[in-house]
Amino acid sequence: MTNTVLNMKDIVKSYRDGEAQRTILNHVNLTVRAGEFVAIVGPSGCGKSTLLNIAGMMLSPDSGEIELCGQTVSALPKKKWTRIRKEMIGFIFQNHQLLPYLKAGEQLSVLLKCDGQKVQELFGELNIEHLIDQYPARMSGGERQRVAIARAFASDANLILADEPTASLDSERGRHAVEMIQMEVHKRNRAAVMVTHDERVLDLADKIYKMEDGKLMES
Ligand SMILES: Nc1ncnc2c1ncn2[C@@H]1O[C@H](COP(=O)(O)OP(=O)(O)OP(=O)(O)O)[C@@H](O)[C@H]1O
Ligand SMILES: [Mg+2]
Repeated sequence: MTNTVLNMKDIVKSYRDGEAQRTILNHVNLTVRAGEFVAIVGPSGCGKSTLLNIAGMMLSPDSGEIELCGQTVSALPKKKWTRIRKEMIGFIFQNHQLLPYLKAGEQLSVLLKCDGQKVQELFGELNIEHLIDQYPARMSGGERQRVAIARAFASDANLILADEPTASLDSERGRHAVEMIQMEVHKRNRAAVMVTHDERVLDLADKIYKMEDGKLMES
């Protein structure tokens, strides 16, 4: 099990819905190895972002364990979560999450201490070189999405989590972005989990899971 990057064990998460308690994740298990690109599909509201946020230590489960590279991180005190997130996880959020006061290139150079040449290289690969000195407010949704992808690649994170990375992109750019994730995973032996509604990019994933009634099933 040495090359297991993410191991989610028996994860339960429920939300209070008025009087009732709604179970969103019902004893979910998920293992992702180095070099593996996993896609998760399922209807809106079924709990895909919830699962990804728990994997990325943005949200704690009601019960269950999360291991990153063999370490049971869910057992660590909350104040250690930030550092683990920063070191081990590159997150591409459904809503981008770029810092408004940093130019696109600075999102990598300032936050991740990435050198100028690497920033150039990554922006070049994603065809967004012209955005390096641009602020997020002056970019389109799709442009911001590609900067967020570049930022996830720029970290040395073992695990890349992408919540609908093609949502604001046209089909050609969307496919290109997912091809980049696939290449990053295979070339640098990282692990990635992508949530998507976009059936046209599913062929790029190594494994596809369907989320239904709080469970994950391999399809
Ligand atoms: N903080 C919260 N409090 C209460 N309910 C929540 C909260 N966050 C999410 N939910 C509920 O949990 C369910 C799963 O939400 P989640 O965002 O994980 O869905 P999703 O599968 O990512 O959907 P989409 O495809 O639309 O992004 C939804 O029904 C949502 O209303
Ligand atoms: Mg979602």
